[in-house]
Amino acid sequence: MNTFDKSLVRRSFDHASTRYNRFTALQRTIGDGLLSRFNVSPLQDHRTTLDIGSGTGYLSGQLSQQKDIDTLYALDISADMLQQTKMAMQGLQCTQLVCADAEQLPLCHSSVDAVYSNVAY
Ligand SMILES: C[S@@+](CC[C@H](N)C(=O)[O-])C[C@H]1O[C@@H](n2cnc3c(N)ncnc32)[C@H](O)[C@@H]1O
Repeated sequence: MNTFDKSLVRRSFDHASTRYNRFTALQRTIGDGLLSRFNVSPLQDHRTTLDIGSGTGYLSGQLSQQKDIDTLYALDISADMLQQTKMAMQGLQCTQLVCADAEQLPLCHSSVDAVYSNVAY
């Protein structure tokens, strides 16, 4: 059963996409905390990594620069949020933008080594 009207969620983030980064202090603080815990994680091999609800790509940007990540999927339901990521991450070739619903991931089973999600669920 769907609790949220996803078309409304998508439209809402599409609409907010160009202004979103002005109001992300909380998301960045939480994302930085997530990454600092990741850095001491005993998990070592994160070559293919997925960021669900990646938004404008702050966490994806940090992840894509980590040396043990070969491919990063930045996945979001809002194409306009992903467009902001694309503009911010020019030159970071390991990042693949995926416009999709987190509940219907268009990825093969067992195709990623690590999954992150910051303030999306
Ligand atoms: C509050 S923002 C967080 C963005 C980013 N992770 C950050 O830390 O700034 C939530 C994001 O989740 C995305 N989102 C919401 N529902 C989604 C769904 N069902 N599938 C994929 N992305 C979704 C929104 O479009 C939005 O970009």
